[in-house]
Amino acid sequence: MQPNLSFYFPTRVRFGAGVLAQLPDELRGLGAARAFVLSDPGLVQVGLVGRIEALVRGAGVEVQSFSEIETNPTAATVARALEAAKAFRPEAIVAVGGGSPTDVGKVVAFLLTNPGSLAEYQWEGRKIGIAPVPLVAVSTTSGTGSEVTRTSVILDRNTKKGIVSDHLFARTALVDPELTVSLPPKLTAATGLDVLAHALEAYVGKGLHPLTETWALRAVELTMTALPKAYADGKDLGARTDMALASSMAGVAMDQSGLGIIHSMASPLSGLFGVHHGLANAVLLAAGMRFNLPAVPERHARLARAMDVGIEGLGPEGSSEAIAGRIDSLVRGLGIDTNLAQFGVKEGDLEPMGREAAAMFLIRNNPRTAGPEDCAAIFRSLWRRVS
Ligand SMILES: [Fe+2]
Repeated sequence: MQPNLSFYFPTRVRFGAGVLAQLPDELRGLGAARAFVLSDPGLVQVGLVGRIEALVRGAGVEVQSFSEIETNPTAATVARALEAAKAFRPEAIVAVGGGSPTDVGKVVAFLLTNPGSLAEYQWEGRKIGIAPVPLVAVSTTSGTGSEVTRTSVILDRNTKKGIVSDHLFARTALVDPELTVSLPPKLTAATGLDVLAHALEAYVGKGLHPLTETWALRAVELTMTALPKAYADGKDLGARTDMALASSMAGVAMDQSGLGIIHSMASPLSGLFGVHHGLANAVLLAAGMRFNLPAVPERHARLARAMDVGIEGLGPEGSSEAIAGRIDSLVRGLGIDTNLAQFGVKEGDLEPMGREAAAMFLIRNNPRTAGPEDCAAIFRSLWRRVS
């Protein structure tokens, strides 16, 4: 574990059932006369966007919405949202949703104040030099943690490209577990396993330090207990609250300490086959951890305790298998099928996908060196021909 550490987290988190009602306060605090609301069609359908527009107008703030953001948002969507935002000249951006609207919100917020195009900033390109329009992130899933991270990921010609900058932190995150109760079981499982992937990748990764260790382990513990409950009964507000807390804690842990092989391999799965980000990570979770755990035997005891797995008397290999087995059974219990063929992946795709995963910058934080063959072998272990 690193002897020196750096921890920067400027986002105000307003957390708890009902905190959405604090949105007008937040906008008044920013002195914003015009707020641009970014969301997706599903949130318009369930009436949340209308509710937010009414709240914003009630605060005397002019509002305009853009609700065409898709899962795995593309550079073309960003361009359309940016054009609408430029015409409206907002003084605050309100991103409502899971990671997709939030990631688009972050990018629109900085492109409104900085020169150049999105592509120039992606993949460790141009640095963001000017403070963006302030972003208020209203999270409606317990998943990506984007509301507490400095990262935005946008799909460009079938490749997911990230931007990392301190300027991408939301000014405020409104984390209201009541907004997650209507999430259907499948999405609850996929987003919740994304939370677990964040916590586990941060915990086993090279960048772990004492602050993130605490946040990651607590997020693991909360998820192991609350996720099956939230999956079985979406209206269980206690379980939803624990998952929202786990999501924010895991989000901070992974943002500060890094991810690894699971998210690196999820990237081509989402980029090439359109698989939902959370589901892609869910499918890869146990296999990725089975690969990584033997490299960090000194971290097994705490992890096993957080996951309620008995490893006494087992050697490093045995405890790796016990922990990975526990993840496997959690994933299966949440109804996730891990066969990659269901997404249209062909046998011939496995090696190119392995090469793409191994080239991701996230993989540098992985505790065990993983080359293209390693990634392809893990993909292969999850691929079965379907007739
Ligand atoms: Fe993720």
